[in-house]
Amino acid sequence: MFMNSNMNIENTLAALATSPTEKHRFHLFGKTLSAQIAIPYHNQKVTEYYRQACGANYPSISALADKEIEFAHFGLILAFEEQTVIPVCDEERHLEENLRQAVQQFGPVFIRNGIVDNLGEDFLQKNMFPGLSFHVDRGSHMENQISLFTRDPRDPDQAKPRLTSTLFMSRRATCYQAALEGKDVEDFQRCSNVFLFDDNSVEGKLGEVVLEQSWRAAEGVGEIGIIDNKAVFHASYHRGERGYAIGTRYLF
Ligand SMILES: [Fe+2]
Repeated sequence: MFMNSNMNIENTLAALATSPTEKHRFHLFGKTLSAQIAIPYHNQKVTEYYRQACGANYPSISALADKEIEFAHFGLILAFEEQTVIPVCDEERHLEENLRQAVQQFGPVFIRNGIVDNLGEDFLQKNMFPGLSFHVDRGSHMENQISLFTRDPRDPDQAKPRLTSTLFMSRRATCYQAALEGKDVEDFQRCSNVFLFDDNSVEGKLGEVVLEQSWRAAEGVGEIGIIDNKAVFHASYHRGERGYAIGTRYLF
């Protein structure tokens, strides 16, 4: 159901927090869009899932994981009605303020039907990792902790939907999963990279403790993803097929 309103980002974020299963319509950057939470009640789902999965080990595991940032609801999908140039950052590459609020409150932010402009190619990378290596893109000593992922429909390589998706986990859920699999949680936090799940076992976790961004909007539709590496881990998910590399830039 559509919540019909004429709201700015602040009251839209507040409305999403109180009714996270509704789709909300508002205006941003002069255009109309809808906003929807990807995984409502994520934090509660993480707690319930790992309490059950970890069994008797839950108290010691939760002592590690519960030090991390919590997201009551995880992932925000902003879908513009028409293709919109998104002013993602200023000239010093600081993330735009409305988007920063969204990233702080809900973790990963995905923009559908959006393109970036005038960012140049000089700090553009094209990245793809082997399967299910959950990692952060920036070391903790770096100041530009924001990753900006783009599927740019004007790039011939990226015009079509992408076969490889990207998986996102909150740092808290990543801690739980690493501990559940018997990984050294202190070690993975130091190197900020850990192989988790396998292709079969991750399927049942999608939309619960793991968020999937599929990059499969129609041909010619631009897609953007934004995360803060301090709070969110991500991995490429190939499902047996490898798509093209996604564009990556780092913002402050
Ligand atoms: Fe990455």
